[in-house]
This record gives sequence, C-alpha cells and structure tokens, in this order.
Amino acid sequence: MSFVRVGSACDVKPGGVLLVKSGATEVAVCNRGGTLYAVDNRCPHLGGPLAMGALHDNILVCPWHGWEFDCTTGKCDFNEAIVLRTYKVEIVGDEIRLELP
Ligand code: FES
Repeated sequence: MSFVRVGSACDVKPGGVLLVKSGATEVAVCNRGGTLYAVDNRCPHLGGPLAMGALHDNILVCPWHGWEFDCTTGKCDFNEAIVLRTYKVEIVGDEIRLELP
C-alpha cells in the first residue's frame, strides 16, 4: 500500500464529491465540512456511480436508486453488513493522496 496522488483538493468543495481514478480503481472523494473521505465509486447494489450522488453531511446518496452510505465509514444506512471500501486520505499542499493497493 502506498499513497498515490489522485487530484487537487481545490476541486472538491465542502458538500461536494469528486471522482478520482488510479489505474482501474475509481474512488469517490467526499468533502464533509472540509475533511475529505474516500470510498469506492461503485455502488454495491447495481453498480451506480456514487461520485455522481449527493452528499448530505456524511451521507452519500447513490444517484440510481437512493441507497445511502456513511462516507466516513462506508456503511450502508439500512444494512451495516453492506460496507463500501474506504481509503485513507492524505492532503499534501493541494494534492489529494489516497492509500491504494
Ligand atoms: S445502484 Fe446504487 S442504489 Fe441501486
């Protein structure tokens, strides 16, 4: 595991979500009140693009059918057995870096 630069922090404002890619890995970076969290972009329901969803405080809503996930833990709000993969985020200057395999 190592930290990989995936984007600029200025591209994701508070309350926003940014899609970033590293190789085949797609990650939704969520800005919750100025702190960044990163979860898999692919919804475990039917593969919806979570980075296209709305972020309400810590809740990321899938744009396809409305499943909701806590962006800080990856947990689905109605079934905690369903958990998105999360990634550690590091900010260096304006760079977003994710710990990726
Ligand atoms: S694909 Fe995300 S809720 Fe259905």
